[in-house]
Amino acid sequence: MRCYAEKYCKKNKNHCSESCSGYVILKALYKLSRIPERYCYNIPLVPERSDLSAFEELKNFMETVEDRVSAGDGLYIWSEGVGNGKTSWACKIMSYYFRKIAFKTGIENEGLYIYLPSFLDDLRMSYGEDTDPDFQEVLSMIKNCKLLILDDVGAERSSEWVNERLLSIINSRIMSGLSTIYTSNLSLEDLENTVGKRISSRILGSTKEIHLVGKDKRGGVK
Ligand SMILES: Nc1ncnc2c1ncn2[C@@H]1O[C@H](COP(=O)(O)OP(=O)(O)O)[C@@H](O)[C@H]1O
Ligand SMILES: [Mg+2]
Repeated sequence: MRCYAEKYCKKNKNHCSESCSGYVILKALYKLSRIPERYCYNIPLVPERSDLSAFEELKNFMETVEDRVSAGDGLYIWSEGVGNGKTSWACKIMSYYFRKIAFKTGIENEGLYIYLPSFLDDLRMSYGEDTDPDFQEVLSMIKNCKLLILDDVGAERSSEWVNERLLSIINSRIMSGLSTIYTSNLSLEDLENTVGKRISSRILGSTKEIHLVGKDKRGGVK
């Protein structure tokens, strides 16, 4: 059986079973987080020279993630290009957070991953209707979880309605002192042109900006 702790657990791998409390807690945390399966396990990320200092900052954030989450600090990870580790880093940081808190607190409202373009589409489709309990859970977690990933900000189909919803989510998280990691293909200036200043300035004020410039590495590092 495969465990999310496979890369760091010190227990004898021959004894992995559903009766291991670590396995059970992590499985629950990951399930609630909705991180896509391929980002749940360790992805070794190799920096290009141009991304060395950005990787150092990301690593530093990751290694102090419990404090960062307590302080409500966030990240804005962006690059013009695709496939250079934005989503991987965001999920890696959340995984590290789960590793740190697994035995310390409950599993409710810890971490949630949202692919923003499809989430906002779903929200629009279901608006004003009785949504299913699964979606209700997402809506509750998005406003309350301690660490949220909003993946691909600025790639959603923009409209006034969408921007108002997004603003409400971001604003309520900032007011509650909750951490959010954003990824985007847009610089903060370009984001302002896409989603408006009210959103972009709140993101700017609540995150550290990390700019990646490496090439597309989908399909392997060349
Ligand atoms: N720095 C890197 N080193 C090694 N592989 C990488 C790196 N960045 C991305 N990859 C590979 O590319 C895939 C896509 O990366 P992803 O984080 O989804 O890119 P994006 O920046 O578009 O979000 C990853 O699953 C990983 O296999
Ligand atoms: Mg991505």
